[in-house]
This record gives sequence, structure tokens and C-alpha cells, in this order.
Amino acid sequence: MSADEELDSSQSAEIAAGDRPGFDTSVAHSARVHDYWLGGKENYAADRAAGDAVIAAYPGIVMSVRANRAFLARVARFLAAEAGIRQFLDIGTGIPSANNTHEVAQAVAPDARVVYVDYDPVVLAHARALLDSSPEGATDYIDADFRNFDAILLQAARTIDFSRPVAVMLIAVLHLIGDDDDPYGIVSALMDAVPAGSYLALSQVASDIQAEQMAEAAKRYNRMARETQRHRSHPEVARFFTGLELLPPGVVPVQQWRPRSDFEAQSKSAMWGGVAQKA
Ligand SMILES: C[S@@+](CC[C@H](N)C(=O)[O-])C[C@H]1O[C@@H](n2cnc3c(N)ncnc32)[C@H](O)[C@@H]1O
Repeated sequence: MSADEELDSSQSAEIAAGDRPGFDTSVAHSARVHDYWLGGKENYAADRAAGDAVIAAYPGIVMSVRANRAFLARVARFLAAEAGIRQFLDIGTGIPSANNTHEVAQAVAPDARVVYVDYDPVVLAHARALLDSSPEGATDYIDADFRNFDAILLQAARTIDFSRPVAVMLIAVLHLIGDDDDPYGIVSALMDAVPAGSYLALSQVASDIQAEQMAEAAKRYNRMARETQRHRSHPEVARFFTGLELLPPGVVPVQQWRPRSDFEAQSKSAMWGGVAQKA
């Protein structure tokens, strides 16, 4: 299927799903704005305008999204190398960038199986870069809305054996899920669907790091973007791990989660991150 055909098919899926983004370049989309901050090419004028509005309010955003990508890579490496995880469910994948989850996990464990989930048609159009699995492992891509988690679990079962431990990765996606959509209930339902020994890894944009700048950034972004942002405080982020065993160092700014060097630890971000295990 060509990228254009993939976009067409996702647009018809969008009509069926109702609230999912279609391919619209007139308004900023989180996947494309994130790509802009990361220096990618899959973004349009509206995305760059929203991205620049955030940079004007909080100049640290570019360093923050990079620190978050480094967190993603460290977490995937930790889970594959030290925790022995071989199955990953990565929801809110984003436009492929450096160090996608399967690349990091399969570099350590070639038999790792990774299922990606995103609802943006531009991510779908680039999904083939995510399907480039090692021969021993497997990757799959599900074009679905995170809030429709029952459908995600059903489709993920093509690749993931839900009787064995799974790492649920929610990296920089929960700030796009408003309180009305019950993000705590969704996370808890996902963790109910995986067996003991599974992990939850997440990062979320903070409301209480650089609080004034972040509040202004959210205000500007929310005026220009299709998906609004809900920043959360440390206690609100810690609440996602309720009932799980939080691994040291706990919920910390993403650059402080098991950094590989002082240089990495001294980076700056306005994102909380953590990893926990289901007992
Ligand atoms: C900020 S990007 C993060 C990408 C990647 N996880 C990272 O940390 O680099 C958020 C991604 O979540 C996706 N997303 C937002 N809301 C979603 C939803 N309700 N269902 C599925 N994907 C969603 C967006 O399309 C976007 O690609």
C-alpha cells in the first residue's frame, strides 16, 4: 500500500471512529509538532506555528522532547536487557524517529516483539519504518485511538502473548488525554490485561516544573492545536502507578531516570517519567 493509499484508508477509519484526527494540515497535530521539535520533516506550517508558540513561552521544549526520547531509549534498553522483557506495547508511538522502541529492544534481544499504536494518519503513513523487525522478532502497527483500549488489546494479541509479561509504554501521550476521558481508568484497564511481571513505563508533560512557563505554553498550544494538552503534577503522574511497584528512582524528571552519564542527567525537561512492575 502506498503512503497516499494508507492516508486514504485511515481517513475512512477516522470517519468511523468519529473523534480521531483526519489528515488536516490547517491545524496543528501533536505528532507533527513533536516531529518539528525533534528536527523532523513531517510537519506543516500550522504545526511549526504552534511549535514556535510553545518555544516562545518555554524555550526548553526542544531539550525537553529530546530528553524524553533519550528516556524512551533507556527504558526500552533496561526492560529488554535487565528486566528480560520480550514483549512491548508502545501506545502513542509518534512519527518514527531515532531509537524507536523495536530498534532499541531488538538490539539487545532480537526476538523482542513490539506492537505500536497511534491514531494519527501521518504516523500510519510512516508505519513501515516501524515494521522493520529483526527476523527473530516481530513488529506490528495498530491504527487506533488509545481510548479504545479493548480494540487495541484484541488486535495486539496477533503479536503479543498476553499470558507472558508485557511492557506497556505510554511515552509522552497521557498529556493528550484529558480528565474527561478517564486516563487513570484506561491505564488501570491496560495493566489489568497483562500478567504479573509486566511493566508500565510512562512519561507525561509536567504542570509543576517551570510551572509558569508551562502554563503559558499550554494556553498558546491549546489555541492552535487539534488535541489539547493537560499537563499534570508529580502526584497526578505518580497516581498512574497505583497498585504497581515503582522502580527506583521513582517518578522523576525524565533525564534523571537512570541516566547513562552526568551529561545526560544534567539535561533539562518539563516531563515526569517512571517505570513500575506489576507484582
Ligand atoms: C508527543 S507524541 C509522542 C511520541 C513518542 N511516544 C515519543 O515519546 O517520542 C504523542 C503521540 O501520541 C499520539 N496520540 C495522541 N492521542 C492519541 C490517542 N488518543 N490514541 C492514539 N494515539 C494518540 C499522537 O498522534 C502522537 O503521535
